Amino acid sequence: VSAVSVPVSLGARSYEIRIESGLLSAIGDALHTAGLSGKAAVVSNPTVARLYGNTVQSSLRKAGFQACVILVPDGERAKHLRWVSYILDELTKRSFERSSVLIALGGGVVGDVAGFAAAVYVRGIPFVQVPTTLVAQVDSSVGGKTGVNHALGKNLIGAFHQPRVVLMDPDTLMSLPAREWVAGLAEVIKYGMIADEAFFEYLERKMGALLKRDREAVVHIVARSCAIKADVVAEDERETDRRRILNYGHTIGHALEAIGRYRRFLHGEAVAIGMVHEADLARHMGWCGEDVVVRQRALVRQAGLPDRLPACRFAELWSAMLHDKKVSKGRVLCVLPERIGRVRIEPLERSSVIRWLSANRRWHGKKP
Ligand SMILES: NC(=O)c1ccc[n+]([C@@H]2O[C@H](COP(=O)([O-])OP(=O)(O)OC[C@H]3O[C@@H](n4cnc5c(N)ncnc54)[C@H](O)[C@@H]3O)[C@@H](O)[C@H]2O)c1
Ligand SMILES: [Zn+2]
Repeated sequence: VSAVSVPVSLGARSYEIRIESGLLSAIGDALHTAGLSGKAAVVSNPTVARLYGNTVQSSLRKAGFQACVILVPDGERAKHLRWVSYILDELTKRSFERSSVLIALGGGVVGDVAGFAAAVYVRGIPFVQVPTTLVAQVDSSVGGKTGVNHALGKNLIGAFHQPRVVLMDPDTLMSLPAREWVAGLAEVIKYGMIADEAFFEYLERKMGALLKRDREAVVHIVARSCAIKADVVAEDERETDRRRILNYGHTIGHALEAIGRYRRFLHGEAVAIGMVHEADLARHMGWCGEDVVVRQRALVRQAGLPDRLPACRFAELWSAMLHDKKVSKGRVLCVLPERIGRVRIEPLERSSVIRWLSANRRWHGKKP
């Protein structure tokens, strides 16, 4: 269990995801193995750099890299063009070349902003993801989407830029705050729901161990989640069709994040509520059975994730759903389960969502 490798097959842009306990202190060698050398900038934030910056820097220097660290602030506010600009200034000052390496050490925020800087500096330099949160290990570091927010919306500015290699050390997850750990589990449950019933059953059996971050279970869920995402991305790198299934739980989830002004819920928490309610919507429309809703809700609760739709007006919810990117002709494209391990993409009409929501409210009234 100690070392796993997951391939991401994208033709000339193919790369490897390495999952290995202790990998952080062998990063320099891992970069050499991936064919990289020369100058290397580690983009991180103060929280992560304090924990892991020295280990990474000394491993890079031992392997002969000219290493430096570039810090952006902790939190979502780092996903701003001003921080991209700051990273580009630092790379320019240090005379980074087309063959120099940019390494993202941190969660999804660091990965997104650093990846975007790597995508645009001299039209693209080698980029390496070293994700240190569960969300980043199972989701954001795989697939090549990079970018920052605009005042008018999240992730509005970005580019596809695939990493040369993704290096995951499961040990880094042990320092993650509990709420961040649990939020990441929502995306893991999502992979079971969209693609793999046996994996969903594994999560049902092992949730206790996962909440204790048992090493073996952690490596398994990270590897399986990456493999599922890599599979979907390999089929549809630029999100035209099949890649949309990764947005399961996100239509309602993104709406709840927006309504909560990105402060009330962590992304994974909103996705958990989104999955519970999108499954219920599917049941309401007759696309899946009640058993799917019940089992998923039980797993979400077992993980300690929220499952209740917060009080909000229909108009507010619907307009937030329309603001999501997955809209065509006034209808919202939603990913709905048919059974555990299988989803389909359906356009939702306003009227059917109204009917479902009013039935859902009555249901909440009867069974508190
Ligand atoms: N590019 C994609 O495909 C994609 C996919 C999903 C999410 N995202 C983006 O990812 C971001 C969310 O990522 P996130 O959930 O990792 O949040 P994050 O990057 O903000 O990290 C969460 C918190 O944990 C801290 N942290 C990171 N690693 C730690 C560690 N090992 N120990 C202790 N603390 C640690 C961070 O400093 C931060 O405070 C969002 O901006 C989202 O849009 C991108
Ligand atoms: Zn997500």
